[in-house]
Amino acid sequence: EDTHKIRASLLEWYDKNQRDLPWRTSTKKSENGENVQEEEEEEEEKRAYGVWVSEVMLQQTRVQTVIDYYNRWMLKWPTLQHLSQASLEEVNQMWAGLGYYRRARFLLEGAKMIVAEGSEFPNTVFALRKVPGIGDYTAGAIASIAFKQVVPVVDGNVVRVLARLKAISANPKDKTTVKNFWKLAAQLVDPSRPGDFNQSLMELGATLCTPLNPNCTSCPVLSQCRALHNSRNDESVMVMDY
Ligand code: ADE
Repeated sequence: EDTHKIRASLLEWYDKNQRDLPWRTSTKKSENGENVQEEEEEEEEKRAYGVWVSEVMLQQTRVQTVIDYYNRWMLKWPTLQHLSQASLEEVNQMWAGLGYYRRARFLLEGAKMIVAEGSEFPNTVFALRKVPGIGDYTAGAIASIAFKQVVPVVDGNVVRVLARLKAISANPKDKTTVKNFWKLAAQLVDPSRPGDFNQSLMELGATLCTPLNPNCTSCPVLSQCRALHNSRNDESVMVMDY
């Protein structure tokens, strides 16, 4: 029914239209039949570090700006182990221009903590939440994108997309509202491709389902969209409600 259609349409759209971003490394399976399990775990940990750095940078900064910072960061500290050896001065210097320097300090502190505890990257939301600076959003992003855990991710874009899709008007600043959107996202997340599904919602919010003038005619889920159906996708209503 609706949920299955929404999942399939969003994933199909994402496969065709996702932006080519440096932290979106391939999750293709190894061709070599041996050590697949081990290689897969190694790959996941590498991906987790990249997803962590990129998602923290993306929290207050536009994608176009983040790309350069991300590439420079990964050249200097290609792994968690490299980062754990860095100094706060180096990290702040690398962060210059991004603002909210607390985020850089948390990355450093988090890397030190994970390495001190045996270097195994936490792979569940519960374990990730214990790392300094990792909140619900970042934990959900890392768990789903890097470790394929079936968990939701909700940011401002996702709230807007889901609000329109389900024609929910509520104050997005309200705590209960946000909780309800996490619940809704948890019901919707595709169990076979949680990371791609979560990113498809973010991507849709960033590119088509924008606050102003949403591009509904290109939308992969327009036939499931209750806001559009109710003719409530016009910009004035959307801006105020969602
Ligand atoms: N904004 C923040 N994280 C994102 C991601 N992984 N994909 C698309 N947009 C994002």
